[in-house]
Amino acid sequence: MVKQRNLSRSIISSSSSARFFSIKAISLYLIFVFAFTIWVLVFSSRNIQTDDQTHRQHQHRDLIDSEKFRPPSSPPKKKMRESNGDAQLWTPPFSFGLHPCVKPTPKYKEFSESDRYITVRSNGGLNQMRTGIADIVAVAHIMNATLVIPELDKRSFWQDSSVFSDIFDEEHFIKSLRGDVKIIKKLPKEVESLPRARKHFTSWSGVGYYEEMTHLWKEYKVIHVAKSDSRLANNDLPVDIQRLRCRVLYLGLRFSPAIESLGQKLVERLKSRVGRYIALHLRYEKDMLAFTGCTYGLTDAESEELRVMRESTSHWKIKSINSTEQRVEGLCPLTPKEVGIFLKGLGYPQSTVIYIAAGEIYGGDERLSELKSRFPNLVFKEKLATEDELRGFTGHATKTAALDCIISVESDVFVPSHSGNMARAVEGHRRFLGHRRTITPDRKGLVKLFNKVERGQIKEGAKFSNLVQQMHQARQGAPRRRKGPTQGIKGRARFRTEEAFYENPYPECICSSKNPT
Ligand SMILES: *[C@@H]1O[C@H](CO)[C@@H](O)[C@H](O)[C@H]1NC(C)=O
Ligand SMILES: *[C@@H]1O[C@H](CO)[C@@H](O)[C@H](O)[C@H]1NC(C)=O
Repeated sequence: MVKQRNLSRSIISSSSSARFFSIKAISLYLIFVFAFTIWVLVFSSRNIQTDDQTHRQHQHRDLIDSEKFRPPSSPPKKKMRESNGDAQLWTPPFSFGLHPCVKPTPKYKEFSESDRYITVRSNGGLNQMRTGIADIVAVAHIMNATLVIPELDKRSFWQDSSVFSDIFDEEHFIKSLRGDVKIIKKLPKEVESLPRARKHFTSWSGVGYYEEMTHLWKEYKVIHVAKSDSRLANNDLPVDIQRLRCRVLYLGLRFSPAIESLGQKLVERLKSRVGRYIALHLRYEKDMLAFTGCTYGLTDAESEELRVMRESTSHWKIKSINSTEQRVEGLCPLTPKEVGIFLKGLGYPQSTVIYIAAGEIYGGDERLSELKSRFPNLVFKEKLATEDELRGFTGHATKTAALDCIISVESDVFVPSHSGNMARAVEGHRRFLGHRRTITPDRKGLVKLFNKVERGQIKEGAKFSNLVQQMHQARQGAPRRRKGPTQGIKGRARFRTEEAFYENPYPECICSSKNPT
């Protein structure tokens, strides 16, 4: 591979130095075209691709057809006249001409009319609900059932009273998936009063499990599903089921027109005012800190407040957490200050505009000060949108999270400070749309470096920067296959260690041009 690349590089330079219309130039040109074709073929037929494409050649960018998949609202890409360093900071990683593919294969079993029904209560925050709904649509398809519009979670930390149609475009959801599943707004009167099978379907199940569950139809006409998240396995499912999940999440489950239009308006506003921006999912919110037990950098009073919250939240199972150990393991969200050091280390200049995709930051403005001192151009939705525009959004965490989702998916660079449902869903969506740059911090590696900075063993400077950049060369969102389970872990526990389907729907929903579907 390396040989091929060097070959084509040396031919590029010799052809440019040859005289223009000489035979030598023409034959070199032909050799170049030939070598280049082989180079492209070799790359596109390779299934496992690494993330490390930092030395890619930008002259091949025109091969990338991913730009097509940008929504029409985004402005055309600026001409590539940036220095290499700049491109490494801002442009999408080389994506080998890969493109989204969600159409069913000829073997796909189309929807057939059914008088059996699934009702579901979707649980969790916005992105947990979105991916859960995509799973449940696929489950309804497998079980040959009509799906009733999901009920949304009103009990989670976010306490949002919104119903499905407040958050999602209900008509579009029903219409766009009509070839897959029949979706209705309410149970028909005649079945409403019938007894229902109430099921907690086992997490991470395969098609076989749900086919077995169809035995419930012998006794019941309605199955009520108590939870929607992670109902399907990440791997080893038929490609048509995986593509159905993508059709739901990326095409069928659009946000409501009010959310979608404000989201796109804010994206345009950002792009026209500042050009490019980083969307930072700063998951430094009270619930996350309490849940993970991460108190690094907090006052004793704050640590205590978080401990109390954790102990009084009944559905959080782990109560006693050693914050130091948690942080060293890379299990804590980066603090705002750490994010500042990290982004500076990556080489982003002080003038970089950073959109803060988050709810309320724990500790408020004061906690943001050391991020702000490194990057003064922080943008919050409350500043970006007018009060008038945000009316109807304030007090609805799910709606504002939806705005953050849109602005994050459309950003030039997305950086999540913690792994979680939003980080995973946005990363996967960006991969799907054309491997837009997503930088996933190596929190375990970074904490080691941060601790060295703290002990004065290394300074925030060129050497530190080099280390940070090396550490993140292969964490920029370039194409690669979804990772399987951690080696050596047996039984159901391994499902937890797999990379989530919605974090990286490659290869099922991202294809090379050779298999256009
Ligand atoms: C789906 O269910 C209906 C009955 O509600 C039945 O007539 C039909 O054959 C089923 N289709 C499949 C593929 O099982
Ligand atoms: C937490 O873990 C660290 C490192 O293992 C240890 O030094 C410290 O004493 C522990 N703290 C508590 C409160 O147990």
